Amino acid sequence: MIVAKNLHKTYRRNADMVRVLNGIDLEVQAGEFLSIIGASGSGKSTLLHLLGTLDKPDEGTITLEGRRVENLTGWERDRLRNEIFGFIFQFYHLLPELTMFENVMMPMMVNSNMWNWWGKRKEARKRATEILERVGLGHRLKHKPRELSGGEMQRTAIARALVARPRILFADEPTGNLDAATGDGIVSLLRDLNRQDGLTIIMVTHNLELVSTTDRVLRMHLGKIEPYRASPILGHLAEPVALAIPVEALDEFGEPAVTLPFSESGKLEPLRASG
Ligand SMILES: Nc1ncnc2c1ncn2[C@@H]1O[C@H](COP(=O)(O)OP(=O)(O)OP(=O)(O)O)[C@@H](O)[C@H]1O
Ligand SMILES: [Mg+2]
Repeated sequence: MIVAKNLHKTYRRNADMVRVLNGIDLEVQAGEFLSIIGASGSGKSTLLHLLGTLDKPDEGTITLEGRRVENLTGWERDRLRNEIFGFIFQFYHLLPELTMFENVMMPMMVNSNMWNWWGKRKEARKRATEILERVGLGHRLKHKPRELSGGEMQRTAIARALVARPRILFADEPTGNLDAATGDGIVSLLRDLNRQDGLTIIMVTHNLELVSTTDRVLRMHLGKIEPYRASPILGHLAEPVALAIPVEALDEFGEPAVTLPFSESGKLEPLRASG
C-alpha cells in the first residue's frame, strides 16, 4: 500500500546539520498494524511526517497504491491528508479556542464545502459524539483543551484522527500520556478498527507491551530502519507479551538491552516450549 524507498532527510540549522534519515526502505501492506520503536531523536516522528506528506524527503520516493506522493503539492496533498490519512500527533495540536467536540468535528468540516456540510452536519455530529464516547470522553464535549488533562487531550486527538474514517492512521505515541488501563483501551480500539474496518496503522511507541500486540515491529537506529530481532535467549519464554523489563535491563537509549522474541521479519514468533 505504502512503499518508501531510500528516504533521506537532513535538518539544517545555521551551520549544524542533523542527518535524521539515512536511506529508509519500508513497505507497509494494506490492513497491516505496524509499530516503530527507537531511541528518542532517532527520527520516528520525522519518518511519519514524510510518509503522511506533511514534510518532504531530501531524497527518495514514497508511493501510495502505486502513485508517487512525496512530491505532491497544494490541493492534491491536502485531499490525500483529509480523505485518506488520519494523524495522531505526538503533541496533539488541538485548537485551543475550540471545545473538544469542535476539535473533533474539524476534519469533517474541512472535507465539506458549505453546501454539502448543511446536508451532512447532523450525521457528523453523531459521529463526533460517538467517537468521543468511544475514547471515554463523552462527558467532556464542551471543555476546551486547557481545561483537560494531558491524557484527555491525547484521547481527543485520537478521536479527531479517527472521526473522518481514514484508511491509513499515523499514530505518534498515541498512549504516551495515558495510564496503563486507558492506554490498553486505546490500543484495543485501534486493534478493532484494524481488524473490523481494515484500517492500516503505523504506530510509533516506546511501550514494548503495546508493540507485541501489533503485526510487525521495526526499529529506527542511526537513520536506518531494521526489523526488531529475535532473541535466542528469550525465544523459549512462555509469555513474552507480559514480560516486564526491569530498568537495569535498559540500554543507554532507554531501550531493552535484552531483546524480545520477534523473528527476523519483525513478527512475534510462535511460542515454543523450552527444552
Ligand atoms: N525542524 C527541525 N529542525 C531541526 N532539527 C530537527 C527538526 N525536527 C527534528 N529535528 C531533529 O531531528 C532528530 C529526529 O527528530 P524526531 O522528532 O524525528 O525524533 P523521534 O524519534 O520522534 O524522537 P522522540 O522519541 O523523542 O519523539 C532530532 O535530533 C531532532 O532534534
Ligand atoms: Mg517523536
